Amino acid sequence: MRILVLGSGAREHAIITALLAEKADHDIIAAPGNAGIAGDVDVIHLDPTNGQVVTTFALENNIELVIIGPEAPLVAGVADRLRQRGIAVFGPGKAAAQLEGSKTFAKRIMDAAGVPTGLAARAGTLAEAIEAIDSYGAPYVVKADGLAAGKGVLVTSDREAALSHAEYWLQHGAVLVEEFLAGQEVSLFLLSDGHNVLPLSPAQDYKLLLDGDQGPNTGGMGAYSPLPWLPAGFVDEVIETVALPTVRQLAAEQTPFIGLLYCGLIVTDRGIRVIEFNARFGDPETQVVLPRLITPLSELLFAASTGGLGVLPQPEFSADVAVTVVLASEGYPETPLTGRTITGLSAALAVEGVSIAHAATALNDEGALVATGGRVLSVVATAPDFAAARERAYRALALLELVGGQYRGDIAERVTGQ
Ligand code: AMP
Ligand code: GLY
Repeated sequence: MRILVLGSGAREHAIITALLAEKADHDIIAAPGNAGIAGDVDVIHLDPTNGQVVTTFALENNIELVIIGPEAPLVAGVADRLRQRGIAVFGPGKAAAQLEGSKTFAKRIMDAAGVPTGLAARAGTLAEAIEAIDSYGAPYVVKADGLAAGKGVLVTSDREAALSHAEYWLQHGAVLVEEFLAGQEVSLFLLSDGHNVLPLSPAQDYKLLLDGDQGPNTGGMGAYSPLPWLPAGFVDEVIETVALPTVRQLAAEQTPFIGLLYCGLIVTDRGIRVIEFNARFGDPETQVVLPRLITPLSELLFAASTGGLGVLPQPEFSADVAVTVVLASEGYPETPLTGRTITGLSAALAVEGVSIAHAATALNDEGALVATGGRVLSVVATAPDFAAARERAYRALALLELVGGQYRGDIAERVTGQ
């Protein structure tokens, strides 16, 4: 199949790695990609958020499937443009992507569909925000309404910090104040063709920068899959109470969700609650879910894109586990220092079960690999158990050199022995 993958992160590298692992002779092009992706497939430099440019490229190059990695092209309506021209595309249109692009839209859909989620109040003024903050009490949860690249959410016990976060984001639009939900977090990805859903294997993301869940919120510092501690029937319950009601509600509103429904969940002592939806594969969770996928990824994504999921069995996963640890630049997440060289990749890749998904990497004029952003790469390790996968991942990380590089040392620690 001729496949175009939009995006340039470790998630897109992991998607491409999974497509290549099918050994199906696909022609894969990535736009714009990164240094790691360019080592594996052809890359082209086009703006993935420009629907006109992407559609023209896809038509001229006989692309049979477009896979949209990040949220920005989805919210910009790139999938709509492609679909109008009859091109199969994995990713929702602009309207359904509001499930991720607007937290108030997501709450409205959840209310209409009866999906379990925490209490939330939308505030358009500081006075409204203060009222909601004080009525829910500590710990406080304050979120920017729109896309904020992981920076819009603050969970804190410091009332002053909650107020100033609300005040800052109110300059950019509304904020959402939510009740705090306590429990383990789960990222569950579901493929949707607009009407039917198929689950992938659950994963857990580590969102905070530092060990022991300390420090600022980030895009994600590591993940593991599967989740041995999940109660039996968890995935089926999410399908019945969260995914299908949401997909049906969006279909009923004439904005069918075609793509990846990312359910960000908390398992509370009162049951499953949705914290957020995303309209795309998660990063870094994709780096641990896809290496375990046995069913060919292209078949699943093409079926989702063309209304064909209803006839497919549930995707199959390997019994091996996967752990990923993100290597980030000094200064991430506030002000990452870029341009520094990264060495030791061949040695790291020689560790059994280890692969590397590139994110912010490029080759400089001398041909050296350099970091170009905050999250630089994900080291991914698979193994029969979590202790072995962790040992492999951290052995590989120790072989990488990036001055000032930072990574968490406790990814998947809580499941070793399982
Ligand atoms: P979000 O971008 O909405 O996923 O929020 C980022 C992170 O903040 C989540 O992964 C949770 O760890 C935390 N968080 C968000 N909303 C809540 C909530 N209502 N209660 C507890 N933690 C939350
Ligand atoms: N790992 C969180 C996200 O992709 O949004």
